[in-house]
Amino acid sequence: MDATKPSDDVIIRFRDVHKAFGERKVLAGLDLEVHRGETFCIMGPSGCGKSVTLRHVIGLLKQDAGLVEVEGNDMSKISRKELREMRSRMGYVFQEAALLNWLTAGANVALPLRETTSLSEAEIELKVREKLELVRVPDAYEKLPSELSGGMKKRVGLARALITDPELILYDEPTAGLDPEISSSINHLIRELADRLHVTGLVVTHHIGCIKTVGDRVGLLDGGVLKYISTPAEFLTSEEPRLIQFLGDRLD
Ligand SMILES: Nc1ncnc2c1ncn2[C@@H]1O[C@H](COP(=O)(O)OP(=O)(O)OP(=O)(O)O)[C@@H](O)[C@H]1O
Ligand SMILES: [Mg+2]
Repeated sequence: MDATKPSDDVIIRFRDVHKAFGERKVLAGLDLEVHRGETFCIMGPSGCGKSVTLRHVIGLLKQDAGLVEVEGNDMSKISRKELREMRSRMGYVFQEAALLNWLTAGANVALPLRETTSLSEAEIELKVREKLELVRVPDAYEKLPSELSGGMKKRVGLARALITDPELILYDEPTAGLDPEISSSINHLIRELADRLHVTGLVVTHHIGCIKTVGDRVGLLDGGVLKYISTPAEFLTSEEPRLIQFLGDRLD
């Protein structure tokens, strides 16, 4: 990246971030800069700390040492009010769809609007239906999560993350467990959001198809730090033994 870019171009900055749970050191000096409008993908073995990294961005976890900055705000110093305000401008697609099972899909998607805006019920319904349409599950509106397939739940989770038209979206394995066709359509949707609406994205994924379609840059989270940060094309053709070992014979 161009070192001469103004610093407000950096939406997410991790500098030398450490995080441990008891004896288990998960992040060990993580550095990361995500620039406005780019989509940055994180790959890495299971349990390496990908979800933990995302949770620092949204303020669900606090680092033990180092700096986590989101839109210029030091996340360890931010007030509850500022955090709430920031979260209304961020979308989070959880690894598990994480829908409330006693609410319909429509009500799940509406939640962030109810929490952060004073829109009327009619306005909320219109927006919710529009987002369910966008992720191609318009019929889910009245259904309970138990009546939806895994893929549909994922899409409803995506619609909920998009409902406030966030400027930054964090995706935790948006295509895990989905069939190739649906995965591909979700990947294209993520790309479209970045291209058309200039949404900044941080995407955790195990799928090569996902990084090829959505990624501007990609890095491998390994040993608590991000390594081999490069374009998807460079990443996938790298001669680095660790990357070759990690990517193995993944074809998707
Ligand atoms: N709240 C927590 N308390 C204790 N340990 C935790 C907590 N959250 C995560 N961990 C541990 O941190 C490590 C990294 O977890 P994380 O969920 O970030 O992995 P991941 O890279 O997202 O893996 P996967 O690909 O399986 O989703 C794991 O060893 C996990 O058990
Ligand atoms: Mg995870």
